Amino acid sequence: MKKIVVLISGTGTNLQALIDACAAGRINARLAAVISNQASALGLERAKTAQIPTALFIRRDFADHAAMDQAIGDYIEKIGADLIVLAGYMKILSEGFVTRFAGKILNIHPSLLPKYKGLNTYQQVLDAGDSEHGASVHFVTPELDGGAVILQAKVPIFPGDDISDIEARVKTQELQIYPLVVKWFIDGRLQEIQGKAYLDGKLLPENGYA
Ligand code: GAR
Repeated sequence: MKKIVVLISGTGTNLQALIDACAAGRINARLAAVISNQASALGLERAKTAQIPTALFIRRDFADHAAMDQAIGDYIEKIGADLIVLAGYMKILSEGFVTRFAGKILNIHPSLLPKYKGLNTYQQVLDAGDSEHGASVHFVTPELDGGAVILQAKVPIFPGDDISDIEARVKTQELQIYPLVVKWFIDGRLQEIQGKAYLDGKLLPENGYA
């Protein structure tokens, strides 16, 4: 059975969706480990409840960022993971790490990429007065939130919405699209070739599957 490693920093609701999808057999893989860079991440408790091994990598325990990512990479390599899933991992991975696992790292980002890369996407979308927001699942490349988009989900923004209203709406969609994309990858349907995403051998459009 294929092995997935999930990297988290926080609440872990996306992790929980993956735990549930694997447990129900909707994803034909095993969550082999959950890695966090935050000791207090609630997602670590979710992993323990699901009896998934956890590992903590704290920046201050390493000489520099690259050394930390080297250690994370060595841990993942020892496990022999087929896929690395970033689920609210709030630390930028070094170029060395991304290159080492090229084509095997997925991320979910709370915006309709290429709009609003980086942090505070909800504030940015409110400030811009947009009428929609969403989430994107994409391959990870050294450029922050810049890898090929695989699948997006859009949600409306209504007058009077605040950040928490939009966030809740986006999160509901995230929990649908991330397990689906992970399933595609595990089933061998999804590839990244020269920076572009392919599903069933077909090039996906710039903003993902439509
Ligand atoms: C998710 O909304 C995800 O899109 C976002 O963090 C949240 C994690 O929630 N990721 C990023 O902002 C990455 N740049 P969770 O811990 O409950 O899954």
